[in-house]
Amino acid sequence: MKNEKIQAPKGVREYLPPESQAFEWVRAQLISPAKRAGYQLMELPVFEDTNLFSRGVGESTDVVSKEMYTFEDRGGRSITLRPEGTAGVMRAVIEGNLDRGQLPVKVWYSGQFFRAERPQAGRYRQFYQVGIEAIGIDDPALDAEVIAIADQGFRNLGLKNYRLEITSLGDSDSRTAHKKDLMKFIEALDLDEATRARAELNPLRLFDDKRPEMIALMAQAPLLLNYLTEYSRNHFEKVKSYLDALDISYVVNPRMVRGLDYYTGTTFEFVHEDLGAQSGIGGGGRYDGLMEVLGGQPLSGIGFGLGVDRALLAAIAEGSLPIKEFSSDLFIIPLGEESKAFSLTLAASIRSAGFSVEVAFGERSLKGSMKGADKSGARYVLVIGENEIGSSAFELKRMSDGVLVSVKMSELNTVLGA
Ligand code: HAM
Repeated sequence: MKNEKIQAPKGVREYLPPESQAFEWVRAQLISPAKRAGYQLMELPVFEDTNLFSRGVGESTDVVSKEMYTFEDRGGRSITLRPEGTAGVMRAVIEGNLDRGQLPVKVWYSGQFFRAERPQAGRYRQFYQVGIEAIGIDDPALDAEVIAIADQGFRNLGLKNYRLEITSLGDSDSRTAHKKDLMKFIEALDLDEATRARAELNPLRLFDDKRPEMIALMAQAPLLLNYLTEYSRNHFEKVKSYLDALDISYVVNPRMVRGLDYYTGTTFEFVHEDLGAQSGIGGGGRYDGLMEVLGGQPLSGIGFGLGVDRALLAAIAEGSLPIKEFSSDLFIIPLGEESKAFSLTLAASIRSAGFSVEVAFGERSLKGSMKGADKSGARYVLVIGENEIGSSAFELKRMSDGVLVSVKMSELNTVLGA
């Protein structure tokens, strides 16, 4: 039988060189503001007890009702590949008793998430997020800081064409009052059966219906933002005033619906203008009832998840990737067997000064090796022939313009660092 090639599963996003260099850079930029703000790493399993998500994320969501990768393990337990990160963090915080220590618990995470969505540009079945969660303190200043950390991540990428949308889903009294009026409003609408069933599970979902006739119907629907209790209204006002103080611009979008059911109070999304349909590059909010629902203390929490795949697409669209940083500073070509030992030691010593250095291997011609150097994108090339062995002065070829630059060993740092 012929050995057929095996392909990656449908809708899976993977990153191979050279693109993976950009991916890795984007991920590091997105998370660095959180590390600087004292968030600590949490490494969690990619699969969890299915109940964690059905209870934590909510049965009314597409994520739980249609998109989970759920299977039975060999012990007959129902297992699900994590579709998002917050529920797992909460489970681990409760299990590890972190909520009994210093509050807020501040953690960051990064990794693969899985949703069986219809694949298209920017929407994958396995995708990447970095996220943070701050658990145990309800303070509008914390909400603003969490949003500011996400915003700084996008700024680190050099992104400009995005906006921050925020709203508040209020406390439970706000939501109860609104739900009553919203249900009354929805009852009077002429809806198909599936839509009515969705409304029954969570009437807010109808705000998320993209069909033009539904958008028209919902235009007059009562908005939760107008039902906030005094406490929730003050909370939201304070969040906005802190964002103003931080000089972070936002638009209030009272019709925003997040795809997960645990949200309360402040919720937000970052929307990129150049990405078409899959424009959400990150989102998050408060989830004040989640810990209790998962069997823990009634503590509040807030966090975000940023889509690394989409952030990379956004950086490509805006041309903001520092592509130069993704290739080596120097490419050394040893000519002949005798040059190899010197080339290797030279490379090691330049690397230890903080530069990235590649060495050509194999018995290729100088022309072939130069081609390799060119392809690698390295900024400089150094050929080590007999005369260079043991030398402390070299001629580097600057690849951007082909000019030969004479440098002494002692000046290498200055030249490569420029
Ligand atoms: P989310 O809005 O569902 O929130 O996802 C966060 C981000 O992940 C989205 O803004 C998007 O950039 C990216 N994303 C989601 N689905 C896909 C997909 N199929 N393909 C590519 N990218 C995708 C959450 O997951 C919450 N856990 C965030 C959070 C943390 N809220 C509070 N704490």
